[in-house]
Amino acid sequence: MKRIGMLTSGGDCQALNAAMRGVVKGLSENVDELEIYGFLNGYKGLIYGDYRLLTSADFSGILTKGGTILGSSRQPFKQMRVPDANGLDKVEAMKSTYYKLRLDCLVILGGNGTEKTANLLREEGLNVIHLPKTIDNDIYGTDVTFGFQSAINIATDAIDCIHTTAASHNRVFIVEVMGHKVGWLTLYAGVAGGADIILLPEIPYDIEKVIAAINKRTKAGKGFTILAVAEGAISKEDAALSKKEYKEKVAKRKYPSVSYEIADRIFEETGVEVRVTVPGHTQRGGSPCPYDRVLCTRLGSAAAQAVMDEDYGNMIAMINGKTKRVPLGEVAGRLKTVDPDCQMIKEAKRIGISFGD
Ligand code: F6P
Repeated sequence: MKRIGMLTSGGDCQALNAAMRGVVKGLSENVDELEIYGFLNGYKGLIYGDYRLLTSADFSGILTKGGTILGSSRQPFKQMRVPDANGLDKVEAMKSTYYKLRLDCLVILGGNGTEKTANLLREEGLNVIHLPKTIDNDIYGTDVTFGFQSAINIATDAIDCIHTTAASHNRVFIVEVMGHKVGWLTLYAGVAGGADIILLPEIPYDIEKVIAAINKRTKAGKGFTILAVAEGAISKEDAALSKKEYKEKVAKRKYPSVSYEIADRIFEETGVEVRVTVPGHTQRGGSPCPYDRVLCTRLGSAAAQAVMDEDYGNMIAMINGKTKRVPLGEVAGRLKTVDPDCQMIKEAKRIGISFGD
């Protein structure tokens, strides 16, 4: 008999359902009796005892379904030790739900913040298993997170569509790709979509270098330029500010996002028309791509095996094509960023892509 709790927390992505299906199928095929408690809307469900007793049938037919059948919400890690508006101790409340339901373990699907709380629950003595989800691909200790490849497809499609219209006009186009802290998604979608300039949070840009790259293309007779800009792209001047100063500056910024600021600067200095496209949350929507379906089926199945082995306190990672149990204590709170000197960036630069540095 196994009693497992499951929740999806943080920003959603395409393959959450596929991953849960993998876990449940892996268990129901191999365990005689199984009780699955699905907590609704992330940690909120665990805190406030909002759950549904589910059966394996609930996880059938969801491999291709985007979103999450359990719902999700953002419950910042920093607030976990802060009592709620009614003075409720959230950590104690989560423990109490867990013990009341006599769970063997919690399978927690989420990104970095979610992982930190999963680790906190581990430190508090609960059995947890974490599955690494995020379109940002920034979870330390796994080569890839689910959602990432599906989001690359969508962001690349956006750049592809811009390409055809860009070729008809002499304009500069900016496609703003998700990723506040890291630029994996922008880097991959930018290269896949043939962007001419790629701006990442990890490589602060010099606007003059960006403009020089545009001018170089114009001189070479190229009628248009496409920029893939991460939400968190940052200028060299802004990168030199303290965190506090930068936050204050962004709060006062007249632009909705960095892309519009870059667009204005380009227009001021070149006089060329600039258009900004923000695919936004479409990048997290729709069906998971085949790569993510396979990844999640494997991660989910590996999580089921960890439950059966009663081996807890780990993230199930994908490393060099193999699933691996990685201790949460070693990875929680660490961010996987793009190394500005990595081979991929060097290769991209070699073919003429500018990173604005
Ligand atoms: O963490 C995933 C992510 O999609 C980021 O890429 C993006 O910056 C953020 O979430 C958006 O968050 P929200 O859905 O809360 O607006």
